[in-house]
Amino acid sequence: MNGFIQLSKDAGPIGVFDSGYGGLTIYNEIQKLLPQYDYLYLGDNARTPYGTRSFDVVCEFTRQAVRYLFQQGCQLVILACNTASAKALRTIQQADLPALDPNRRVLGIIRPTVEHVGEVTKSGHVGVLATEGTIKSHSYPLEIRKLYPEIEVVGESCPMWVPLVETNEYESEGADFFVKRHIDNLLARDPEIDTIILGCTHYPILMEKIRKYTPDGITLLTQGAAVAASLAEYLQRHPEMERLCTKGGKTVFCTTESDGKFCTQASLFLNYPVEVKNVTLV
Ligand code: DGL
Repeated sequence: MNGFIQLSKDAGPIGVFDSGYGGLTIYNEIQKLLPQYDYLYLGDNARTPYGTRSFDVVCEFTRQAVRYLFQQGCQLVILACNTASAKALRTIQQADLPALDPNRRVLGIIRPTVEHVGEVTKSGHVGVLATEGTIKSHSYPLEIRKLYPEIEVVGESCPMWVPLVETNEYESEGADFFVKRHIDNLLARDPEIDTIILGCTHYPILMEKIRKYTPDGITLLTQGAAVAASLAEYLQRHPEMERLCTKGGKTVFCTTESDGKFCTQASLFLNYPVEVKNVTLV
């Protein structure tokens, strides 16, 4: 799974970026569906969480990450982080890419997540659980409204959920309290909700507890499979980009935190051992 990826000037691994471990839930599904490609995963664990940070700070941190991944040869980068997708994607695509390299691409994960929500909800009432940054950006209601103007969307921010994952407390009793509180809040605001989008890539790691406190009959939507399918379609529609993604079936994991800590946690989430490189973003 790990190892040296042969880099060329014109082709490289697919970059997958998140503020921390959450993006591994997206990487996992992408790698399962598209195992032939090389990947470079980058977690900015030293500066996580992004969810409570300002627009400008998230933009700058994400820009640094994209620049790093480009320097490593990635031609295509997936922001496997809703907060970065909500706050930084548009600025990077419109303002930075033309100067950085107009031929490379950066894709987000919010649009692929909402694409099929209209086929899932029967009541037409959808809830979104996400970070404060994602909820305040209104990205989910805006994207859903573009495709399904009749759907009602209510969002609830869960500021403790990412720290619970990043500090390895996601199975603790304390986690029960915070998970239940935000699901109850969301459903109290709209009892007709029949579909909940887990709009943060860290949240599938809390799935056991999320299921425990979600009433039967409510569908929980996670993002990994939808993002992976959408990437596969994208690569089919864009053979000029597909050709620039190297195919060796290898993944390199990088973190801005201690590599030992990332190694233990990532191996836990992925269920296999990984080798990790420590990097500094500037
Ligand atoms: N995984 C990120 C997301 O999807 C978490 C953001 C954070 O660092 O707060 O939004």
